Amino acid sequence: MTILEVKGLVKSFSGLTAVNDINLEVREHEFLGIVGPNGAGKTTLFSLLSGQLPPSAGKVVFEGRDITGWSANKVAATGLVRTFQLMRPFESMSVLDNVAIASHARHRSRRAARRHALGVIERVQLERYVNSLSGSLPTAGLKRLELARALALEPRLLLLDEVLAGLVPAERAPMIELLRELHTDGVTVMLIEHIMTAVLALSERLLVMHEGAQLALGEPRAVVDDPVVIEAYLGEDYA
Ligand SMILES: Nc1ncnc2c1ncn2[C@@H]1O[C@H](COP(=O)(O)OP(=O)(O)OP(=O)(O)O)[C@@H](O)[C@H]1O
Ligand SMILES: [Mg+2]
Repeated sequence: MTILEVKGLVKSFSGLTAVNDINLEVREHEFLGIVGPNGAGKTTLFSLLSGQLPPSAGKVVFEGRDITGWSANKVAATGLVRTFQLMRPFESMSVLDNVAIASHARHRSRRAARRHALGVIERVQLERYVNSLSGSLPTAGLKRLELARALALEPRLLLLDEVLAGLVPAERAPMIELLRELHTDGVTVMLIEHIMTAVLALSERLLVMHEGAQLALGEPRAVVDDPVVIEAYLGEDYA
């Protein structure tokens, strides 16, 4: 079954077309990787899907509902949730409070929201930081907090924007493992990531974006071996 349908999606910023006619169908429970050079339009695509930006043209259909032009809050409430490449937790608040704010969208009472938040914090293995100020977290902790805030909204489609960036190799493996577990638990995932080994380890299909457009889409190994992709993105070194 299709969970997300993207039709002719376009976003222009005064002269620059950041997203240029993206057409895509994501299957329920799929893990879709998204790669492409800096400025290819990956983050902008997520902003269009999750309602942070209105598209210039095109359509976004989530679980059969046309959500084009909906606000980010309303989109998140339907179960389509993103993380931010530039993380923005409330730094002067504890990890628990940061996650509990997100949990409130699903749980009315303060107690229920906090209980739910604690479960999510455990899920991302941030227990030892539960009462720490978010601003004091190391990068790996911030990445997990960003993930926790998204998970607190109980997504069925999770858009992850470079959640591995800035992690040292020793921190990457457990994060990759966590993403794999979340997927196994039933979440559909779209993952933007520059670290190709991680993308290939996780993705069932791979979308390559280039100058706003779709350069390739398909089985990950076939896509990275595609001469067009190597030429435009991966470079001769990769080949
Ligand atoms: N709000 C905005 N206003 C004007 N231009 C923007 C805006 N947001 C993004 N852009 C431009 O759109 C293009 C695509 O940016 P985007 O952030 O989507 O790329 P990206 O693929 O996520 O890159 P990176 O890998 O560096 O994160 C870039 O040229 C960027 O400068
Ligand atoms: Mg980006």
